[in-house]
Amino acid sequence: MKPIKIADGIYWVGVADWNIRDFHGYSTYKGTTYNSYLVVDDKITLIDAVKKEFADELIGNISQIVDPKKIDYMVSNHTEMDHSGGLARVMHRIGEDKPLYCSKMGHKNLSMHFPQKWNYMPVENGGELRLGKNSLTFMETRMLHWPDSMFSYVKEQKLLFSSDAFGQHYSGPERFDDEIGDDIMPHALKYFANILLPYSPLILKLVEKVTDMGLPIETICPDHGIIWRKDPSKIIKAYVEWSEQKPKRKAVVVYDTMWHSTETMANAIVEELGNHGVHAKPFCLKHDHRSDIITEILDAGAVILGSPTLNNGIFPTVSDFMTYMKGLKPLNKVGAAFGSYGWSGEAVKILNGELEQMKFNVVDPGVRIQFVPDENALGACRELAGKVAAALPAK
Ligand code: FEO
Repeated sequence: MKPIKIADGIYWVGVADWNIRDFHGYSTYKGTTYNSYLVVDDKITLIDAVKKEFADELIGNISQIVDPKKIDYMVSNHTEMDHSGGLARVMHRIGEDKPLYCSKMGHKNLSMHFPQKWNYMPVENGGELRLGKNSLTFMETRMLHWPDSMFSYVKEQKLLFSSDAFGQHYSGPERFDDEIGDDIMPHALKYFANILLPYSPLILKLVEKVTDMGLPIETICPDHGIIWRKDPSKIIKAYVEWSEQKPKRKAVVVYDTMWHSTETMANAIVEELGNHGVHAKPFCLKHDHRSDIITEILDAGAVILGSPTLNNGIFPTVSDFMTYMKGLKPLNKVGAAFGSYGWSGEAVKILNGELEQMKFNVVDPGVRIQFVPDENALGACRELAGKVAAALPAK
């Protein structure tokens, strides 16, 4: 792809992965980009590589600006292989002995990914590297979202290379926020919900720290998706709001069904929640992807789970979803469970146990219906919906 100038001497030299549709379990309907940045100064520096399969394309992009051999420094802000996979090819091309700057954990983790004995230069938090008229200040951002993650900040241009933070899995013709406008926000939200949600408390602390430091930021260059140059404060404010996880009067009803009984219960619960002024919608795991459902859950006050009992357990798709949701650790949720069964009926009890483990406020023992729900059974579903509605905030 054609390199794009971002600031004086700073270029986007990344690649688009138009066809990726699954990113370790997260659905990426719009593909993604692996953003790599070239700083051309007295010392020429490459910030982050790309996925292995795209390394030659990255090198081709760099070559449109400088001979890759002239690159003096490599910076790795994050070890995950969508940014480091191409490193072997890049280091081979620029020179295996060139200094490779990364965090201390980055050094440790990169060494466990690559056998090459590269010229690692582990940096301190706050450490500075002079490039000429520009400099890089390294900021450790441990667990945002790996132990090795760090940001690199160019104070002379008020520009932040933010690694995965503030990214979006989106590939399109646009490169900047002003070219796409608010249409990018749902992609940024989904990215946050599926990648950064477990680290919400750390994000709030980081934003507070950066605000206290009075660090001016005019451009944010993440490692995926578009670059924030028109209004970087917009995505920072959104991250604060999303990290706070303030519950809304909204419920997400997640279920799967074998013979439509659990589905009938889900629909009755959704309808009754609506009667109580709750924004509610059913999501059937046969049709909705786990990563889209998690995105809906981010600002919901309640998650209501429905599963048939299959072989004394919960339905496999519900189990998959619970594993995914538990890992993402959503906060401040009301929970409840329901489901149809044939003869043993353990699913609701199992789901309640898991919701309690996740510190959800479980407001009802749950509704278990044998075989097909009759009017009484649907009445019990409506009662459950009423209890959930009562536990939600007024707005
Ligand atoms: Fe985009 Fe954590 O890698």
